[in-house]
Amino acid sequence: MKYTPLFLLVSTMAMSCSHKNHEPLAVIPQPSQVEQKSGFFIINDSTRMVLETPDQRVRKAAIIFIDDLRKKQSLNLTLDEGGKSSGINTIHLKLVSPEETGKEGYVLESGRKGINISSGTPAGLFYGLMTIEQIALTANQDGGSVTVPAMKVEDSPRFDWRGMHLDVCRHFMPVEAVKKYIDYLALYKFNHFHWHLTEDQGWRIEIKKYPKLTSVGAWRDSTMVGNFSSTPLKYDGKRYGGFYTQEEARDIVRYAADRFITVIPEIEMPGHAQAAIAAYPELGVTGEKVGVKCEWGISPYIYMPSEKTFSFLEDVLTEVMAVFPSEYIHIGGDEAIKDQWKESPGVQALIKELNLKDEEELQSYFIHRMEKFLNAKGRSIIGWDEILQGGLAPNATVMSWRGEKGGIAAAKMDHNVVMSPGNYCYFDHYQAKPVDDEPLAIGGYLPLDTVYAYNPVPKELTAAEAEHILGVQANVWTEYIPDFRQVEYMIFPRLLAMSEVAWTQPGDKNQDLFHAKVLRQVNLFNKLGVNYSETGMPPRPE
Ligand code: ACM
Repeated sequence: MKYTPLFLLVSTMAMSCSHKNHEPLAVIPQPSQVEQKSGFFIINDSTRMVLETPDQRVRKAAIIFIDDLRKKQSLNLTLDEGGKSSGINTIHLKLVSPEETGKEGYVLESGRKGINISSGTPAGLFYGLMTIEQIALTANQDGGSVTVPAMKVEDSPRFDWRGMHLDVCRHFMPVEAVKKYIDYLALYKFNHFHWHLTEDQGWRIEIKKYPKLTSVGAWRDSTMVGNFSSTPLKYDGKRYGGFYTQEEARDIVRYAADRFITVIPEIEMPGHAQAAIAAYPELGVTGEKVGVKCEWGISPYIYMPSEKTFSFLEDVLTEVMAVFPSEYIHIGGDEAIKDQWKESPGVQALIKELNLKDEEELQSYFIHRMEKFLNAKGRSIIGWDEILQGGLAPNATVMSWRGEKGGIAAAKMDHNVVMSPGNYCYFDHYQAKPVDDEPLAIGGYLPLDTVYAYNPVPKELTAAEAEHILGVQANVWTEYIPDFRQVEYMIFPRLLAMSEVAWTQPGDKNQDLFHAKVLRQVNLFNKLGVNYSETGMPPRPE
């Protein structure tokens, strides 16, 4: 048999594990094909990285890989730019015709002399390097040389959108933490980072034309303690907040782009707007002066659908587009409580004037206008599935979170979809039972195996409709996640399951193999200092 499925390889290797070079390969996500060969290659301090292309993105990818191995494995590889293809103890990076590997695929061959990685794109070469980096960091050796088994890997992803989201509003995460998050995404071959930047509880991105968004909107006077079960609610009484300057955000966009990750900024509308309304009360419906919200849960404060608000949002989005080059801008759209619209004579008059049926159609009008603005600038909108209510904007992509229903409806209407249903993709839920023994979380129960079992293409779709499923994303809401260590606890190991859901073809997934590989990742977690959840890990063999 030419191609050995990796799970056979792992079990054979595990059984004949007396030789230190034959430990299980722990690569996550599972590559498309792995052909086992005899022998191995040792990466050591004499190994040279040879670039067979002048491409600057490839050069950066190589430097990232070399830096990572230096910092995390005490391995000191040298970069050999414009090197020739001969030579031993080398890792070669080569760009080939794009047809050979697709947009993000790569071919990796390792043997006695070294490793050759080829791809039609710099992204594919980066993923080949990440495969090697995982083999190195999962090795038992804490530092120094690592053994790569001789093999041929041919690999490419299932989905174009392999996303992870992070809410930095409920709890603020410093720039260095966001970069660490991006490092984790890169290592497991995610390519979209959805950055949730505005909320009722805090506005986190500098907008130069509206300085109060951050001088006022980024700070709350206090934060509720614990969950809603204690009445009256308890508060910590501490001013809390933070924001990213545009320069910091640009730095993060660049950092992500070097790792082939697109940053999708989310600017919430028409709801989740209390922090903005706290900064500029005239943007609200009631004109009332409110503070930034100190409790979790959804605020009733919603943008007034006035020309003033539309100009404000267009100005905000203009600055956002200057920082974020992504095709997609996330406009939120979820959980907009419309009571204030219902009670406002001005809003009701507007509904009549625009000949709309109700508040849902008004929300749709709102989103349509913002889409038109963004489309005119060459951008596309993506929004949570509530943007289906009252009629979907013509070119909108839907992020389906309240189950798959919204995503299915959108795909059947020929709209693109990112699947992110709560039951499989919400990493703020508990990951182990009994939940009372876990750190306080928002609720729900989402263990590793449930994430792993997810298939983002619903059976209800025809093959043509299924083409609209761009991919899948997991979300990390931070009401009950006070700092980055707790973010790590909530995403590890579940991030690894999502990585295979997003990258690996369903026929190549195997839960037993996955469990074995996750256990092997503990070396990597320890080398990176990751605060993973032991209770969320697969069972250890007897
Ligand atoms: C969401 O969880 N409110 C999108």
